[in-house]
This record gives sequence, structure tokens and C-alpha cells, in this order.
Amino acid sequence: MNREYRFNSDTEFIQHYGSLIPTNVLYGLDLGELRNQLTSSSSILGAIDKMALDKSVQNFFVEGQRDNYELVVPRRAAFPESEYPCRFAFRQGDSVDAVNIVNKQDLVELRKAVSGDWLDEEDSSQSNEIARFLLGKKILVRSQENQRNHFKNEGVYRLQHASLLFKSSDCVLLTDPVYGVRDSWLHPQDLPQVDVILISHSHNDHFSLLSLMQFPTDTTIVLPKSNTTMLSVNMASLLRDAGFTNVIEAECYKSIELKDMKITSMPFFGEQPWLDFESPFENFRNNANTFIVDSNGFKTWILIDSGQEYGHSMVDIAHLGNEYASGIDLVMSNLGIFGWRPGAIDGSGRYLFCFPQDILEDPNRWPDGKKMTFGPDGMQHFLDIVQPKHFLPYAHWWREPGSVAKTGESYYETHITNKIMPNGSTRILNWNVGDSVHLKNGVFGVGEYRK
Ligand SMILES: [Fe+2]
Repeated sequence: MNREYRFNSDTEFIQHYGSLIPTNVLYGLDLGELRNQLTSSSSILGAIDKMALDKSVQNFFVEGQRDNYELVVPRRAAFPESEYPCRFAFRQGDSVDAVNIVNKQDLVELRKAVSGDWLDEEDSSQSNEIARFLLGKKILVRSQENQRNHFKNEGVYRLQHASLLFKSSDCVLLTDPVYGVRDSWLHPQDLPQVDVILISHSHNDHFSLLSLMQFPTDTTIVLPKSNTTMLSVNMASLLRDAGFTNVIEAECYKSIELKDMKITSMPFFGEQPWLDFESPFENFRNNANTFIVDSNGFKTWILIDSGQEYGHSMVDIAHLGNEYASGIDLVMSNLGIFGWRPGAIDGSGRYLFCFPQDILEDPNRWPDGKKMTFGPDGMQHFLDIVQPKHFLPYAHWWREPGSVAKTGESYYETHITNKIMPNGSTRILNWNVGDSVHLKNGVFGVGEYRK
């Protein structure tokens, strides 16, 4: 390992790459402009050229400054348009005014209303920054009421994308709530009172401060310990700043008991920039956990977005599930394959700038196309070891109830059911967005809770 490329903080990273990529004013610069601005390192220019060929890479912005240099890092940190509609309540003294943000133009108008100095009104990806800004102005967001009556029975409900709702006799647990997206059919006010929210990682399709701010501030939130780098966000800090009073940073292999549920935090491997070589960083990674939820007398291992990275795979810890939870009944995961490309995961190109310098400068060594997530084959290896009763796919983006075929999930289900499952003891339970799974007389069955 080359210690030269190990960094202990963002500051060290910025100092290193800040000298590597000298330039001045680059805010909002696209790749072509970036190339024109660069004056050193022809191999870096070659890397930029290859990134420019990948249409998934969007653009960059400047972050940090050292001497006369500013560092170029990716700009698109979020999944654009993934935050609407949102519901704000402006609290000023005793009066409260509600504002609905239902599209991008509304958000632009809101920005104008609260501040006149947003740098880029066209950038719809700065939701967390907006939330922090609103909080700084004592503008709070409150949850709504009027829950619908869809969630009467104990079981696990498939909501939208990575959001599941576990309901027991005494507790309601919600995973990765990101509400208010376009075409959304479900909002926080539709849900029963939530006791605990589980966050898997800080990617914006799993962690949304604006969405979480729609829940009461005394809601227990369990999440992985994460620091703010180019690959993750210090979620606990953001939430505490937002007024949440019961934020728990989960430790791996430790359990938390909440009412009649038990949550055991397990490691997460996968969805990192490094596939063929060791991470050059001590503290940078997509901080995440997988979780085993013990509810209603059965145990569910939630594996969202996991897979493999250099030197590690979720397969390596599969056998630990039974050790820590004595028998896993259900495994739930997405099956989509996230292949590495310059624009992975969020179209920003930030993964490239997490590479050691020598690999960044040599596009032939980039791990193009290699899997960061399991996909059906990797999942089957995991299931062969864990041997749950059932596997349930989920988290294939935001769709209407019953419309799972649009997501491509049916392809993966067919693959894992027809070609792989017959060799193992686990059986897939097919369920759609808007369905739920229940345990009755020792048998798991799927029902439709939303018609
Ligand atoms: Fe992710």
C-alpha cells in the first residue's frame, strides 16, 4: 500500500488534490470548460476526457481552497428532482404559514423568498443545504396527521423505493423514508405514528433531511455512524442540528431494543469506489449499515445497496447473521446491478477523485462495468449461506402500487427464481409496491394493502 495517498481528513484530501488540479473559478463548470482551465498534468486531462465521454458524468463545482488553488470536486451530490413535493411550515412567533413545494419552480421561489443569494437556481440537488438554511432561519417543518388506515395488521409493508414499514403489536418502524418525490403516492401524513426510523446510508435516495423533518423531532432515528466526506454525510449531526433529540448511531454487532422490536446493526460492504485496489483513504467510505430487524416473531435482514468492494463482500459476513440473530427468516434487498462507471453512483464523477492519483491518471485502470452491488447471482451466494425462508426484492425506485413491472424488478425476480433459487432452500416471495408480508400460523404470505 502506498501511504502517500492515505488521507485522514477532507482537509488533507483537499491539500493533496488542490495542488494536483490548479485552477481558479470553476463553479458550475462542465467537463469541457474544466479541461480548458487545467494547465497541468496531461494524464489528468486524459482522465477528464474519458469522463467527458461518459454521459453519466454531469458537472463539477469548487469546494475548498488552498493558497491560490481551488479544488474541483463533483457538484451533483443528489438525485435531482427527488425531493418534491415537500411541505414546509414557516414558524414566526405564534403564527405558522404552510408552504407546499411541489415542483422545481416552487423550490426556486422558496429560495428567493428565504434568501436572495443562491448561487445556482437551476440546481435542484441541494436539498440538505436548503434544509440547513431554513433551520438557521428558525423555519421548522412539522409532520402532518390524517393517517390512512392501510396499516392495520402486523407485518412488513412495502412502501416506496427503499422505504419499508414494520408494524408489530407495539411498535412501528420505518426504513429510509424519502417522501415527496415526483409521482409519489405516499406521504408521511399517510403513515401511522412512527416510533423509530432506520436509515441505511446517506445517499439521497435513502437519507433526506427534508423528508425526515416532516416527522416529530422526538422520533427515534437509528443510523450508521458516518462522517462528512465526498462519499457520505454526517447524518447524526445534521439531524441533531435539525432538532431531533433521539438520534442513535448504531454500532455493528450491537442490538437496540425498542418496545417489542430489536434492531441489530451489521456491516455493510459494497457501493464504494474501490473494486480492484485498496481504498487510499483511512476515513472515506460510503458509511452504511445493514440491519436485522426482529419483529412479530420473525427476523428480517435488510441489505439495501450492498454487495462487494475491494477485499470485502457481504457474502463474507453472511454466516454472522445467524450468530447474531439466531435464524434469519427473511432477507430483503434490491437486485439491481450497479456497475462502476465514471459517473457512478450519482452522476457526479466523485468516485474518480477518490482514486489514488496513479489510477486516476490512467483510465485503463478504472474498473469500468464492475459490480458494486450484488445483483441476483451475488445475492444467491449470500442466501445459500444464510438460508432464510424467503427472499423479498424491493427498492427498485419510486413507483405506483402494483406497478412493479416498470422497475425492471421482474427481470431480476425471474433470473433469481428460475435459474438460481431451485438449487437452494430459500424461496422468493414476489410482492409489489403497495403489498405487505405477514406471518400467519407459521407461514409467510403476501397481501395487497393498498388498492
Ligand atoms: Fe446507495
